[in-house]
Amino acid sequence: MLKPNFKEAKKRNKEDIKILRNEYHVPKEAKNMGLNKRYFVKTYGCQMNEHDSEMISAILEDMGYSKANDYNDADLIILNTCAIRENAHNKTFGMLGRIKHLKQTKKDLLVGLAGCMSQEESVVDEIISKYKWMDFVFGTHNIHKLPEILKEHMRTKKLEVNVWSNEGNVIEGIPSKRDSKYKAWVNIMYGCDKFCTYCIVPYTRGKQRSRLPLDIIEEVKKLKLEGYKEVTLLGQNVNAYGKDFKDMDYKMENLLEDVAKTGIDRVRFVTSHPWDFTDSMIDVIAKYDNICNYIHLPVQSGSSRILKLMGRRYTKESYIELYNKIRNKVKNCSITTDIIVGFPGETKEDFEETLSLARECKFDSAFTFIYSPREGTPAAKMKDDVSLEEKEQRLHELNEVINKYALEANEKLVGQVVPVLIEGESQKDNSMVAGYTDTMKLVNVKADKSSIGKIINVKITDAKTWSLDGEIDG
Ligand code: SAH
Ligand code: SF4
Ligand code: F3S
Repeated sequence: MLKPNFKEAKKRNKEDIKILRNEYHVPKEAKNMGLNKRYFVKTYGCQMNEHDSEMISAILEDMGYSKANDYNDADLIILNTCAIRENAHNKTFGMLGRIKHLKQTKKDLLVGLAGCMSQEESVVDEIISKYKWMDFVFGTHNIHKLPEILKEHMRTKKLEVNVWSNEGNVIEGIPSKRDSKYKAWVNIMYGCDKFCTYCIVPYTRGKQRSRLPLDIIEEVKKLKLEGYKEVTLLGQNVNAYGKDFKDMDYKMENLLEDVAKTGIDRVRFVTSHPWDFTDSMIDVIAKYDNICNYIHLPVQSGSSRILKLMGRRYTKESYIELYNKIRNKVKNCSITTDIIVGFPGETKEDFEETLSLARECKFDSAFTFIYSPREGTPAAKMKDDVSLEEKEQRLHELNEVINKYALEANEKLVGQVVPVLIEGESQKDNSMVAGYTDTMKLVNVKADKSSIGKIINVKITDAKTWSLDGEIDG
């Protein structure tokens, strides 16, 4: 048994990052484990977590499993979890309750926990003491070891816990079964060294490790050949890409430029921390048409006092300066953000600063959250004397401002013709199709299904807060 260890997860060793290319293989005893069996992977977290699920799926298919569309029909279930807020935790434990019932009627069902919650010591302790009926737990650093973990469980028939705490390597060559045929996630870096005081990610994902530029560019070229129209470069803090290279001066702006030069139709990237956003990055985004005019730029708070307590290393003023610089240099750029309300000690005045920032920036849209204490993080020890009721009120007030500007931004597009990558049937009306603009706005389009997988010009006919309606232009 290898349990996660919080102290280890917090460490940042100075060891060189190794790129390991031959770590993934399926042992022969595990090769046919999944024949005539079906798997179900449920994803709870961010885009990185989604992409991890695509890798888990590919590995299971390498072991002979095929995909089930419903967990009730599966012989093996993996919950790929998220630890970012308490409600992500609760959802996972709720699901485990339902699966326990299923397991009572289906004795051979295998159930495993993966993802960021697996990296938490307290979660794993709870699984070991109260969820003995589960079969295996693995973490974010050893997805490629899944076949070995399942093989070991087959041998012992006991709960197999195998979680690494402080992994400093980059594993290449893990296969991926992508959910979409048109847009693909591409990891460019793993981990995070920013240690914002409220955030669990640096503990669950380890130290910052960038993939080598050539590996990323090769992956994008291959995706383009396979017909993919869009790639999203993934990292918890993509602007810091390359800062961990010891003998190479190659940063995010270089990578963006080289990825744009592959000629793939659309390049996106998430998430950008304002801290490392350089002018040369802005210039590259402005220069290349295929780099989408869309930036997710989490601000977290509009109060410089709270930003300091969060460890974000910018002020309200410097954020707004960066924001305006991007708006001025990248034409028609859409900018979205993340905001936390109710951080420990947030006063009414601090919150007013957040509202005033939201009014000044007029974001295209925002994800807003009530602060959730994460065990082991510095903020969890700070005094928090604002009631939940007050926090809910603040969230509501903030959302009204955010929604107002989101609608305004969408209304400006009515009558314009914009390119949309059509991804599939519209969820609201199956006689329509739907997709995203390069500025990341969802559009429901009156067009036939032959447009799926293509970038088409759409005339916007109506605007709502969260989506647009449109029809084929011409
Ligand atoms: N790496 C990204 C954020 C990843 S987490 C960045 O730094 O911008 C996504 C969002 O979840 C964060 O931007 C933050 O707004 C929110 N979040 C993170 N920890 C949280 C917590 N403890 N409580 C509430 N929201 C949190
Ligand atoms: Fe968390 Fe901050 Fe890292 Fe984002 S940059 S993942 S908020 S520690
Ligand atoms: Fe959640 Fe882990 Fe992503 S905590 S947000 S799944 S990095």
